[in-house]
Amino acid sequence: MSPEKPFAPAADQNRGPILAVLRERFLAHGRVLEIGAGTGQHAVHFAAALPHLDWYPSDVAENLPGVEAWRQDAALPNLRPARALDVLRDVWPEGPFEYAYSANTVHIMHWPAVEAMFAGLGRVLAPGGQFALYGPFAHDGAHTAASNARFDQALRAQDPGMGVRDRADLDALATAAGLAPEAVIDLPANNQILLWRHA
Ligand SMILES: C[S@@+](CC[C@H](N)C(=O)[O-])C[C@H]1O[C@@H](n2cnc3c(N)ncnc32)[C@H](O)[C@@H]1O
Repeated sequence: MSPEKPFAPAADQNRGPILAVLRERFLAHGRVLEIGAGTGQHAVHFAAALPHLDWYPSDVAENLPGVEAWRQDAALPNLRPARALDVLRDVWPEGPFEYAYSANTVHIMHWPAVEAMFAGLGRVLAPGGQFALYGPFAHDGAHTAASNARFDQALRAQDPGMGVRDRADLDALATAAGLAPEAVIDLPANNQILLWRHA
């Protein structure tokens, strides 16, 4: 691995279970907007495994060199250049996207950014388009595992604006943006994929 490629062990561990879900759900050809691509590991893995999808990774500007290092090394025809997208501040790409994907982002983003992400997805997702969000989520005000409660505490101690989000709060933002809840899929390590579909 070239030294300029950032590496997150967690992204290596969860990519298999996430891919299994995307393979079952993102069936038809289409464009995928990834929000908060991080290192770029997911973008490369999923674009390679799902050649019927055109993958458009994005993240805040400071993370783009790492994503680009992964992308250029992989040289995949369906993996597009990384684009700067701070969901709160940047101009969103032109839609429509048939799909959107984001992993481990909403507990890091402050709530106004989470709101902006759903509002933006309401604008750029195609009719019938799906959004898959991976991460740890609370349900009806309760954590689904002690490890998620500890993670939530640690996040809030680090920055009170961060924290594990409740599914109901995300569903409310999604509904306001025209996205209907479609599925909740349990994955290893007390994580889930939440799926919404644009009306
Ligand atoms: C914990 S990392 C997850 C990275 C990657 N998706 C993964 O699963 O390995 C959180 C990501 O959210 C991104 N992020 C935080 N605030 C953001 C915002 N306002 N707009 C877009 N991305 C944001 C960060 O830059 C970072 O890449």
